[in-house]
Amino acid sequence: MKQIALTGLKPSGAPHIGNYLGMLKPSLELAEKFQALYFIPDYHALTTVRDRKQLADLTYQAAATWVALGLNPDEGIIYRQSDIPEVFELAWVLSCFTAKGLLNRAHAYKTIVDDNIAAGREDDKNINIGLFTYPVLMAADILLFGTHFVPVGLDQQQHLEITRDVALTFNKNYGDVLTIPEAVIRKEVMTIPGIDGRKMSKSYNNVIPIFAPPDQVLKPVKRIVTDSKRPEDPKDPEECNIFAIYRHFADADAVAAKRQLYLDGGLAYGAMKQELFELLEAAFTDKRDRYNVLMNNTDELDRILETGAEKARAIAAPIMVQVRKAVGVST
Ligand code: TRP
Repeated sequence: MKQIALTGLKPSGAPHIGNYLGMLKPSLELAEKFQALYFIPDYHALTTVRDRKQLADLTYQAAATWVALGLNPDEGIIYRQSDIPEVFELAWVLSCFTAKGLLNRAHAYKTIVDDNIAAGREDDKNINIGLFTYPVLMAADILLFGTHFVPVGLDQQQHLEITRDVALTFNKNYGDVLTIPEAVIRKEVMTIPGIDGRKMSKSYNNVIPIFAPPDQVLKPVKRIVTDSKRPEDPKDPEECNIFAIYRHFADADAVAAKRQLYLDGGLAYGAMKQELFELLEAAFTDKRDRYNVLMNNTDELDRILETGAEKARAIAAPIMVQVRKAVGVST
């Protein structure tokens, strides 16, 4: 049997090029080598999203994103976290093997505590237990399927360490029941700059969306920050925010030629932006159409997600049986 790679895509809205290059594309490629599982941690989102319509819509957007980008539901398995009841059963079991101190030190929680303290508020002001135990639920997401590899961004590295720690603690008590997963972190694509040169991120408001209509892609592309060198001036491609994105979408020959043009002089930023825009259109037009079709046909998304959940539960069930036996609640 193939090893398992599992990816969780937080339902947090329309994806941008940074998401695409940093995580969506590499995760989709995993389906070639592994049994790939893709899921939407909708119950994780409940720690912050309190509008039912919004939660449902964001979940559909995440599912449509995967399918539009080429996830083949006959190969990769795509499902909603909330459709797998075993996840929540395992989360409880794991919580009994998670040191509270480990969660006290988890970045997401600790940041809010530190902010509260800095502002003179009570430490745990506005923090719900779901937020606090978020890493335990994430550990359950991963360990329930005997996952070997988890592609994540650097921001999730600590969560993976917690997952491993909890799994090792469990195994220490009961033997090798849980598979110890490994994080797969690709540093070379982690640093896609946004249009202002900082890391591309919704919270910086510097993103280029992938499924938006062409004019909403062109606008941010035109606003990519450059220096004020004239076309005839020689330039360093490694310092150019346009080139940093372009290199991921043009073929190798075009990238090499462009690099030379930067170095020799003769490259106009305006023309370079136009070329980048056209490459993005070529890359995403069909995918955007597919995305829009899916978002207008949520029944089909429901079908895909339900089929995925059945397949996922078939992988999870025997592992949950082992866990229940191991702890002694069943024989
Ligand atoms: N915490 C992840 C994020 O913020 C989302 C997530 C939840 C996840 N469960 C997971 C990612 C399991 C990988 C594996 O992006």
